[in-house]
Amino acid sequence: MSPPAVLLTGAGKRYDIVSCFARLTTTVVADPSPLAPAQYAAHVRASVPLIEDTGYVPALEELCAEHGVGAVLPLTDLDIEVLARAREDGRLPALVPAAEIARATYDKYETHLLLERLGLPSPPTVLPQAELEQLAYPVMVKPRRGSGARSIHLAHDVAQARFFLDYVPEPTMLQRAMNGPELSIDCLGDLDGRCLNAIPRTMLESRGGESIKGEVIRDDELIELARRTMEALGVRGPATIQVFRDPDIGLGITDVNTRFGGAFPAPAYAALPGCSYPELIVRMAGGERIEPHVGEFQAGMSFTRYYWQLELDERMRPTGREIVEGGPLRPR
Ligand SMILES: Nc1ncnc2c1ncn2[C@@H]1O[C@H](COP(=O)(O)OP(=O)(O)O)[C@@H](O)[C@H]1O
Ligand SMILES: [Mg+2]
Repeated sequence: MSPPAVLLTGAGKRYDIVSCFARLTTTVVADPSPLAPAQYAAHVRASVPLIEDTGYVPALEELCAEHGVGAVLPLTDLDIEVLARAREDGRLPALVPAAEIARATYDKYETHLLLERLGLPSPPTVLPQAELEQLAYPVMVKPRRGSGARSIHLAHDVAQARFFLDYVPEPTMLQRAMNGPELSIDCLGDLDGRCLNAIPRTMLESRGGESIKGEVIRDDELIELARRTMEALGVRGPATIQVFRDPDIGLGITDVNTRFGGAFPAPAYAALPGCSYPELIVRMAGGERIEPHVGEFQAGMSFTRYYWQLELDERMRPTGREIVEGGPLRPR
């Protein structure tokens, strides 16, 4: 029997993720923009109403019924909560956490409060109404609902903090600026919120919310912190937890994304055969229960990423024409 299809929402530029699923099963993409490149890696591409529209969830339900979808996965932060509510109402087989967790992790100040409540490390964080003179500087002025490192500013003193709070045109917060390396742990939770695996990597260089250079590392402290965080939040599906290891403060979690993180290749390279996250997700969508295997992966691989492109004809259909060859040059 062939596995159920998967539906990926907001695919954007995440061609590698869509392409990987399309090699495993029928893959449907819902993205409102005809210029979102990743949809061209899917078997089916569908234009659906905007997320805020009451027709959004019904349109996804229709796609699920039509194509036999067994798992819906968001590829941006924008619709995770909507999908979580639709899951709770029994309308979509979305691989997302509880709606309350989805809502809290979309707001970085709520995330901070939630982590503190659960006894998980979060850097000191306050809202703009706080006594700014009392803070230890430098701090990061961050949008509460930011993504892709948008509008994040380092403030060295009260005057700079006030300036950036005024300058950034959306709700913000102030968070202690962490030193030390920034690291991410790419994780996968099962349908009961058990953590199946947690794979740490360095973040050497990022651009537009994607990590473009890094190395998979074996770091037991990070693996254990990520497993605890995943299970405390009951995360279903993929998630990426970002931390800093500050020489004075120690580990602090600065971002929790309950979707595929900004470096899809890293955990895919590191996974043992048959255990990449897309493979496990397709098996779970087919009803299989996967045993947790936290820490079972291969460390040491680096990744370095670059741009690729598609030519579309006048009617926005890919021509299939390549102007350059992919892959590393083979020795003559
Ligand atoms: N508290 C902090 N200290 C130092 N750098 C930070 C801090 N918070 C965020 N940054 C930097 O800003 C980037 C984006 O912040 P993040 O919290 O991950 O938001 P998002 O990815 O949702 O835009 C991080 O990858 C990190 O480099
Ligand atoms: Mg981030």
